[in-house]
Amino acid sequence: MTGSSRYAEQQRAQMTLSAHNKKMHGERPYLRVGILGCSDIARRRFLPAIQKARNARLSGVASRDPEKAKRFCALTDCETTDYETLLASKKVDLIYIPLPNHLHEVWVMRALEQGKHVICEKPMALSVGAIERMTQSAAQKGLLLYENIMYLHHPLHQAVRNMIAAGTIGRVTGLRTSFGFMHSATDGFRMRTDQGGGAFFDQARYPLSAALFFLAGSKYRFKGEAFFRNGLNVAMNASALTDCNETFSFSIGFEQPYECWYEIVGEKGKLKVDRAYTTPADMVSVVQVSTDRGETAVTVPAADHFVLMIERVCDVILQGEGYHELYGAARRLALLGDQVWESCEGIQLAPHEKVCP
Ligand SMILES: NC(=O)c1ccc[n+]([C@@H]2O[C@H](COP(=O)([O-])OP(=O)(O)OC[C@H]3O[C@@H](n4cnc5c(N)ncnc54)[C@H](OP(=O)(O)O)[C@@H]3O)[C@@H](O)[C@H]2O)c1
Repeated sequence: MTGSSRYAEQQRAQMTLSAHNKKMHGERPYLRVGILGCSDIARRRFLPAIQKARNARLSGVASRDPEKAKRFCALTDCETTDYETLLASKKVDLIYIPLPNHLHEVWVMRALEQGKHVICEKPMALSVGAIERMTQSAAQKGLLLYENIMYLHHPLHQAVRNMIAAGTIGRVTGLRTSFGFMHSATDGFRMRTDQGGGAFFDQARYPLSAALFFLAGSKYRFKGEAFFRNGLNVAMNASALTDCNETFSFSIGFEQPYECWYEIVGEKGKLKVDRAYTTPADMVSVVQVSTDRGETAVTVPAADHFVLMIERVCDVILQGEGYHELYGAARRLALLGDQVWESCEGIQLAPHEKVCP
């Protein structure tokens, strides 16, 4: 960040703080949040989480269908409305966008134009160029735009990092990870290429962000395979070597049993974590440690990464600093995604009905 943009950020921090200090709940400042679209993930994870977050209050929910919004809000006292009215509302500071992938860019831009901070579901957009446009717009307006890579807010991953830093497995030489499930739906945006569907946009953000979080290298040389069925990307395998001589390999897919793990390999052992990206809020996590001294399991207490994500984002906004780091994280992730995609050989799978029994 340049000196002048840091100065602008400090100025904005002071303005933001004085604005938000007016909205105090007891002694604590908080942000008023609106949800744009009654999506599955908003209902299952974001709605319960916002009710627990110490520095956020649900203020409004928008849907294309007023009855749906009322059902969504049945157990809360928030207002229900349509998309444009929610964005224009003076009672909302921060908008959560859990729309189909192809709609993220347009609605993020509209939210920013209305002066709202934004949490956008992953993938924040479908191209690096779009993410550049979105983060530039946010920066010009002094607003936070955050791509929801929620799992990284779980203390589990910092615990793993601490174990690495303590030398538990020696120098890290590689990361292997897999995230996939059987996606049996035949419709919906995940099944449509024109709506940002396919395994890459749905799942690749997880392994790629794990690589950026755990590996030291800043440059990756990828080689991969992307599998397509009826034109839709249904799986991907890729591997890379970083400029720190670490190996990274991942697989994702829509046509496999559920898998969600990473394994960090070092010169003296390895650490493995299951349910790594979708840890349930009530689950005690386990880090399996294998070294030449044997196998042990280290537990990490349960935590709700959605609550922690909301609290962290609201803290950043209330403090008015750290925006550029979060824009940068979204850009780096998108760039890495582009690199993988470009490295992939496309492999066409036969339509299911033509596969041998
Ligand atoms: N971070 C995570 O853990 C996580 C997990 C799952 C999904 N996601 C991400 O969250 C986003 C939403 O996923 P989801 O599975 O929750 O989606 P979903 O259940 O299909 O919901 C999408 C919502 O978008 C609204 N919408 C507006 N225009 C639409 C259109 N043309 N077609 C369909 N829906 C439209 C609808 O709300 P209204 O009808 O109320 O307007 C709909 O309920 C995606 O970007 C996905 O990648 C993140």
